[in-house]
Amino acid sequence: MANKVVVITGAAGGIGSAAARLFAEQGDSVVVADYVEDVGQKTVDSLHVAEGTKGHLFVQVDVSNSESVNAMVENVLRHFGRIDVLVNNAGITRDAMFRKMTEEQWHQVMNVNLNGVFYCGKAVLPAMLEQGHGIIINTSSVVGVHGNIGQTNYAATKSAVIGMTKTWAKELGPKGIRVNAVAPGFINTAMVANMPEKIIDQLKEKVALRRLGEPEDIGKAYVFLSSEDASYINGTVLEVNGGLTI
Ligand code: NAI
Repeated sequence: MANKVVVITGAAGGIGSAAARLFAEQGDSVVVADYVEDVGQKTVDSLHVAEGTKGHLFVQVDVSNSESVNAMVENVLRHFGRIDVLVNNAGITRDAMFRKMTEEQWHQVMNVNLNGVFYCGKAVLPAMLEQGHGIIINTSSVVGVHGNIGQTNYAATKSAVIGMTKTWAKELGPKGIRVNAVAPGFINTAMVANMPEKIIDQLKEKVALRRLGEPEDIGKAYVFLSSEDASYINGTVLEVNGGLTI
């Protein structure tokens, strides 16, 4: 399908903005849905606009708030009339060892990484069901599959996202909606840049390809899973981690 309408949450950030560029370059219309307005709008302004399309849109949203999510989706439908792809990419970390993790850290991460995926999926569903087609991609993590020290909250959400992905794939497959997850390894964005250099070097040593992933490596996985080439791929978790876990 040419000129898909692709909603990417957290698209002001590292992976999301790289994905936005890749979708735009192939002629899609991208909705940059993020709570950071200035960077999000700049991302939209920098995107390639394909001829004969309605271009791109920034919509400010807090994915952890269902009213905000519903308003974002209404806004997109008013502007474009349909939503072909939802990439649930927004995510945060609030790391601490289990014995020191506060309830606030637990709930902050639950609200964005887990509730946010639920709210966004639920909000786009009526339009996708009416269209008879749709693609949902949820961003999990290597940490959701294997766990990680200091990330009880984050790992729990990223595992839960896999459970939701498989459930939605079973429920919605018969309705023409494909649902998959991408589980990135360690990717060169602000999320990882905050780690001490020594830890980053240790991480690279564990990756068979001996490098961190680039945001585009994950963006390309989103683009692939949204394409006709992936039309028989449903309910899977695509691990994109340079061989970190083999
Ligand atoms: P990032 O921190 O660069 O970008 C995240 C974006 O999400 C930001 O633009 C932020 O404003 C937005 N966001 C956060 N809370 C939000 C909310 N409540 N409502 C709307 N937008 C919100 O992160 P990055 O690295 O680009 O991560 C993207 C996704 O990939 C996340 O789900 C993350 O958990 C996942 N991931 C990242 C990995 C990495 O190594 N960078 C590894 C595995 C998964």
